[in-house]
Amino acid sequence: MTFDTELSRIGISLPTHLLDHFDEIISARGYSSRSEGIRDSIRSYITHYKWMADVKGERQGVITIIYDHEQRGLLPVLTDIQHEFMALIQASLHSHVTHTRCLEVILVRGEGSEIKTLTERLMAQKGVESVKLTTMPLTD
Ligand code: NI
Repeated sequence: MTFDTELSRIGISLPTHLLDHFDEIISARGYSSRSEGIRDSIRSYITHYKWMADVKGERQGVITIIYDHEQRGLLPVLTDIQHEFMALIQASLHSHVTHTRCLEVILVRGEGSEIKTLTERLMAQKGVESVKLTTMPLTD
């Protein structure tokens, strides 16, 4: 098996503050190198993606989103997406965390795969810092 033995090199561009935060975390967690931290992050991202792919069937859930409201064009896009999926959305709560950051909690109910699509659409927008999805099936 060649898993983890064959290495590919990539070059990426990141906002400085994002890299600074990342470096602080990997240093606090005792990683030997930035590369190891990035490998771990990619594994978590893949695990999370697979977990999201399993969200199926009728579900009730909560999407928690943190974003920068000063990001140009972001607010109308987030609103448009939520209107597009309005059949799934039962309620939402907006809190102004700081002068630039907003926290939104969206209560959803419906087909899991559609809830997943909504979550991924929100995640993909520039200026969105984090999106978390928690769901439960509508069965006892
Ligand atoms: Ni706000």
